[in-house]
Amino acid sequence: MSIIFSGIQPTGVPTLGNYLGALKNFTLLQENNECYFCIVDQHAITVPQDPKALRENTRRLAALYIACGIDPERSVLFVQSEVPAHAQLGWMLQCVSYIGELERMTQYKDKSKGKEAVSAGLLTYPPLMAADILLYGTEIVPVGEDQKQHLELTRDLAERFNKRYKEIFAVPEPYIPEVGARIMSLVEPTKKMSKSDDNTKSFILLLDDLKQVEKKIKSATTDSDNAIRYDKENKPGISNLMSILSLCSGQSLEQIEKDFEGQGYGAFKQTVANAVAETLKPIQDRYNALIDSDYLDEVLDKGAEKANQTAQKMLKKAENAMGLGRKKR
Ligand code: TYM
Repeated sequence: MSIIFSGIQPTGVPTLGNYLGALKNFTLLQENNECYFCIVDQHAITVPQDPKALRENTRRLAALYIACGIDPERSVLFVQSEVPAHAQLGWMLQCVSYIGELERMTQYKDKSKGKEAVSAGLLTYPPLMAADILLYGTEIVPVGEDQKQHLELTRDLAERFNKRYKEIFAVPEPYIPEVGARIMSLVEPTKKMSKSDDNTKSFILLLDDLKQVEKKIKSATTDSDNAIRYDKENKPGISNLMSILSLCSGQSLEQIEKDFEGQGYGAFKQTVANAVAETLKPIQDRYNALIDSDYLDEVLDKGAEKANQTAQKMLKKAENAMGLGRKKR
């Protein structure tokens, strides 16, 4: 049994990429582990958010976690800003981070590129993410590939703190799936699928209308060679659709290649569209039943209480190690 932590930003409805790269694995890992899953609203405000929309998206993400299979009886589900220890340890870890290493983060470079004014929070985002993880004694962090660099920094910060002050933090390992670690844009399959993409045809959101989902998949960019073969370099569009089909249907990539030998892209895309719709339909049904329920608030209240209890203990250890506050007499 290991301690697992992961988080998702409430910056809109999660994409199929968020689901296949991260959320789906959360549900598998919760079977035999102690799991903490977080709605990281404090990370979301590193770029401007409409306050009303942020609250709506926070609630929506909570409902989607459960709709996707997170069981609140097994896992602790909570909102980051309701557990103050995250921001507190985040500050302490900023003080052991170097500006140079934060400036080297590719996500920071991408998000700040060409912008006139960039918030300081965008730069200091990774120590907050490290705090999220380290507060719970986390051993394994399930994420998509784009978070690998942040995980490496988290490990560095944990080791640096342990060496400089006291051995209190576990050094976590990333858990990145082999298939699905990077679901690509349906329009430009060399780019990551992202809900912040200007072209709405490039991503599938978990709450998209299923007819729209079918249309988006049918118009996905492919190539002209008409063979269903997994080859990320030369056939990124087809390879991406094959990964999606494999994860939604449970079939291996080899099996998919065999099944579609000699068949055209039309039939293949229809099969992918059907498999995605079959995956999303039950999630959407459960979501609709949850979103306005009191049950959702009860889960989040209980989650915040449990997370606060655990996080507070680690925060105290870190404060003692650093010499913050007064010693109890
Ligand atoms: P976020 O909110 O951008 O994404 C949530 C999770 O979804 C994964 N993901 C993808 N996986 C496959 N293909 C894609 N196209 C794709 N897009 C996103 C991400 O890798 C992530 O696992 N910094 C994090 C949130 C965070 C966090 C944490 C994660 C804050 N604190 C502590 C783990 C542990 C983020 O922005 O994820």
